[in-house]
Amino acid sequence: MDQTAQLILDGKTYEFPIITGSEGERGIDISSLRQKTGHITLDPGYGNTGSCTSDITFMDGEKGILRYRGIPVEQLAKKSTFVETAYLLINGKLPSQRELTDTRIALNDYSLVHEDMQIFYQNFPRRAHPMGILSSMINALRSFYPELQKDDLDINKTFLRLLSRIRTLAAMSYRISNGFKVIYPRPDYSYCANFLNMMFDSPVKPYEIDEDIVDALNAFWILHGDHEQNCSTAAVRVVGSGRVNLYAAISAGIAALWGPLHGGANQAVLEMLIGIQESGSDIATVVKRAKDKNDSFRLMGFGHRVYKTYDPRAKIMKQLCDTVLSKLKVDDPLLKIAEQLEEVALTDQYFIDKNLYPNVDFYSGIVLRALGIPIDMYTVMFAIGRLPGWISQWKEGADDPNWKISRPRQIYTGNAVTDYMPIHKR
Ligand code: ACO
Repeated sequence: MDQTAQLILDGKTYEFPIITGSEGERGIDISSLRQKTGHITLDPGYGNTGSCTSDITFMDGEKGILRYRGIPVEQLAKKSTFVETAYLLINGKLPSQRELTDTRIALNDYSLVHEDMQIFYQNFPRRAHPMGILSSMINALRSFYPELQKDDLDINKTFLRLLSRIRTLAAMSYRISNGFKVIYPRPDYSYCANFLNMMFDSPVKPYEIDEDIVDALNAFWILHGDHEQNCSTAAVRVVGSGRVNLYAAISAGIAALWGPLHGGANQAVLEMLIGIQESGSDIATVVKRAKDKNDSFRLMGFGHRVYKTYDPRAKIMKQLCDTVLSKLKVDDPLLKIAEQLEEVALTDQYFIDKNLYPNVDFYSGIVLRALGIPIDMYTVMFAIGRLPGWISQWKEGADDPNWKISRPRQIYTGNAVTDYMPIHKR
């Protein structure tokens, strides 16, 4: 017998179906709640609300599990490439050799951006944050490359264009904001090698590709690939639900990711660590501040809405951090500070009671710093990694025959009906 949940309201009993996911997660389908009872639910921050069913990513916050299309992220970070994982997320299966080659050819073909886009960059103020620039430029792509959405083949072209060009646009923003010559993508380099080359090559000091660093960047981006209905992905789905074009929906996702409670945490962690280093504060004082209710300071890179144990991505990120620093022979004092912070926090009763563990952003900034990525580009690096997730979530929504415009309700708590008062009487 199908299971149902019963709700008793004003003495009347209502039944609602229980939905069970493929990993045994259970939810109460309340889509008929208002129609049947006249009531809505109230769930600020949506901690208890499922906005969709999805085949893309599975996470178990209690056990620290993350899988893309069923494959554990640990395996992907070790064995896959970012391009292959992007294909997996968007298409629902790993590519064959032929499909992977075709994807790589397309990513190469689409990697150049319209020369006129450089004019946009020149007009942003010098200190403009790259996340604001990236969000604007992705939205602007719609004007340069009117979206093709007639059939599957065409929409795939748009996906590949975006994947390829976000990398070119990100590197361009760094080069132009620093007054450096723009470096064009090269057909003989892989996706990640090309990004590093576009960032760091110089006419007077050619950039040498180090395959270990390329592998590290692949793993870094794979770890950011998707994370089900987080703040930025929810933004992409909500904005996309109005049937807006893909570029605009992704641009909204980038804007949402920018916040320090979300993807912007990687920059905030580094700023926090630098602040601790420069002030010479001892770790115990920093942890004490993070626990103080009257202090707005939080331990950045700690805590997560879903993970109530160690974020599996953070574990891999720490290993990646050790590998990259040792390969590049970097002795970063910020790593010591981060390790001490982690040690103190993980044995502190406040953090234990609230299940606060390092999240993906805790060590990622130290990896990026070792790679030479400037601090205000950290969240841009996150955005490039998250793009396949945003695309696949947008696509899943757009292909869903039951897709509805996102339109939550509210409980109104303002004034009762109030007469308009003429200005001379106010
Ligand atoms: N430092 C100190 N205390 C914390 C922290 C932290 N980093 N995170 C949560 N807490 C405390 C809160 O003060 C709250 O305490 P209370 O119950 O006494 O009020 C409790 O733990 C629960 O925290 P909430 O903010 O209610 O949890 P929520 O799920 O809403 O927030 C969030 C999750 C935003 C990630 C939060 O943990 C945080 O601000 N962390 C720091 C920022 C960060 O690292 N963000 C990146 C997240 S990963 C990502 O988005 C890519």
